[in-house]
Amino acid sequence: MTRLSYATFGAMAFAMTAFPAFAGDPAAGESAFTSQCQNCHNVTNDAGEVLAGRPNMRTGPNLYGVIGRQAGTIEGFRYGASIVDAGEAGLVWNEDDLVPYLLDPNTFLRETLDERRARSQMSFRVRDEDTARDIIAFLTQFSEVEDDDAEEESEG
Ligand code: HEC
Repeated sequence: MTRLSYATFGAMAFAMTAFPAFAGDPAAGESAFTSQCQNCHNVTNDAGEVLAGRPNMRTGPNLYGVIGRQAGTIEGFRYGASIVDAGEAGLVWNEDDLVPYLLDPNTFLRETLDERRARSQMSFRVRDEDTARDIIAFLTQFSEVEDDDAEEESEG
């Protein structure tokens, strides 16, 4: 087993054991990702392996490691100004922020920045919260989630 696949396996095992029961279902999240997200995004690790979605998909930023990452920081991706501002103001993606973002990116950025004219360049919305949580559970498998974060989540 390579070091990379070990890391992925570790993240998966963690996601399956450490999350509370109300968290999403990663298998359902995978099929939702395939039908709803991969038209614009993929998940590509640091070695360049495409772990979900299609190669050379650059409409949306790479979602590898997105949980725990500062918003708007994939190098070389041309984000809109609002999401970059939100990241600089301290937005680091976690489940609590990703759910409202996926349900309505414009409103989420407006509320986060307290700026009526904030805009998202992601012109897509997930229809319901359960699907958003499933997709987040799927993406968590490709993110290194620290133990401390998980504790904070289950306490909050
Ligand atoms: C029509 C294309 C499109 C679809 C479909 C789409 N996205 Fe996006 N997504 C984008 C674009 C473009 C951005 C950059 C937004 C900006 O710059 O304001 C983005 C940004 C994001 C971000 C922020 C990433 C970062 O680096 O801060 C996340 C998370 C995300 N999308 C998740 C998803 C998920 C999950 C789905 C499926 C439910 C999805 N997107 C569907 C185009 C899309």
